[in-house]
Amino acid sequence: MATSRMFQILILSILYFSSMILAASPTYNIQSYGAKSGGKSDCSKAFLSAWGRPAPPPPQPLYMCRRGAPSDYNVIGRSGSWLKFERVTGVSIYGGTLDAQGANLWACKNSGKGCPKGSTSLAFYNSNNIRINGLVSLNSQMFHILVDGCRNANLVNVRVSAPGNSPNTDGIHVQQSSGVTIMNSHVSTGDDCVSIGPGASNLWIENLACGPGHGISIGSLGWDMNEAGVQNVTVKTATFSGTENGVRVKTWARPSNGFVRDILFQHLVMVNVQNPVIIDQNYCPNHQNCPHQGSGVKISNVKYEDVHGTSATQVAVKFDCSKTRPCSGIRLDEVNLTFRDKPATASCSNAGGTADGVVKPSSCL
Ligand SMILES: *[C@@H]1O[C@H](CO)[C@@H](O)[C@H](O)[C@H]1NC(C)=O
Ligand SMILES: *[C@@H]1O[C@H](CO)[C@@H](O)[C@H](O)[C@H]1NC(C)=O
Repeated sequence: MATSRMFQILILSILYFSSMILAASPTYNIQSYGAKSGGKSDCSKAFLSAWGRPAPPPPQPLYMCRRGAPSDYNVIGRSGSWLKFERVTGVSIYGGTLDAQGANLWACKNSGKGCPKGSTSLAFYNSNNIRINGLVSLNSQMFHILVDGCRNANLVNVRVSAPGNSPNTDGIHVQQSSGVTIMNSHVSTGDDCVSIGPGASNLWIENLACGPGHGISIGSLGWDMNEAGVQNVTVKTATFSGTENGVRVKTWARPSNGFVRDILFQHLVMVNVQNPVIIDQNYCPNHQNCPHQGSGVKISNVKYEDVHGTSATQVAVKFDCSKTRPCSGIRLDEVNLTFRDKPATASCSNAGGTADGVVKPSSCL
């Protein structure tokens, strides 16, 4: 149990846990510590005793574990994360269902009233050697899973599900982390299926089904002047169904020292995707904070290999790169995207690179 001293765990409330097992050398099944599946009982105490730590004084009404939407989304909505692991090493989570029942908060957000930001359902900060296998995350208030400041995290057989119109409900967000692998997973949500923030490197995503959602997004990047870059990201074998984007790189149109390099998108299937392949370096919503500026984020060596299927819009391939730091080393190889059985089109600005094999729509690089 020596390692358990390294764990710092904050459990605000567990609304629905079904047979989640936490493992840290010894393995704990939280059901054998009094957690009951079905979400009717308070499983947070069982969770804490599984860690061999006394429960902190109950900051009512934070400890609860019950079925049905929390009448007050503020309970977890102002805390940043619902289930948070910080500075832990070697934690594994097998199975389990987290249902944050975010609908009331989304409704509040959609009505434009002053609402809490919402919490990430499961967050890992500054942790190493994490393994998540078979987790189901439903209806998060905000991001479903966050990996921030971590090394070596393995997410396998993860299922994320939230409605396509739920706001800011990214499936898995990775930033400031190296050696993260996401395999054999299925994400349906209202925002990015996987979003990749500053400082992500050596990220591997394989066998992902995405949709509805906003696709896989590197960015938004480049808000800050001094920002860690993103490098060595592989997305291999993924299907995007009815999503807003397929694979996107997005940067603010502001000065920055950031970069995106050595990215491989391989074996991708697009099914009725609005922007199957897109680089958008002119992101400046409402023309605020960045009008008429170029993005400082340098994008280089991005390869799209074997990408095919259908676009829901005419422009299936769009490289809208920075006027101050053009994209370089964009490579297209065996790309075939159609729009309503007609040829789709490609659009390029400030983008340099090469095309090999069949490339439809014809490359504009
Ligand atoms: C890139 O990342 C993968 C893991 O995703 C790793 O195996 C590989 O060694 C990395 N390549 C470099 C050059 O760091
Ligand atoms: C491109 O895809 C369309 C639709 O799937 C298919 O009919 C066509 O034969 C493909 N073209 C090439 C050159 O592979």
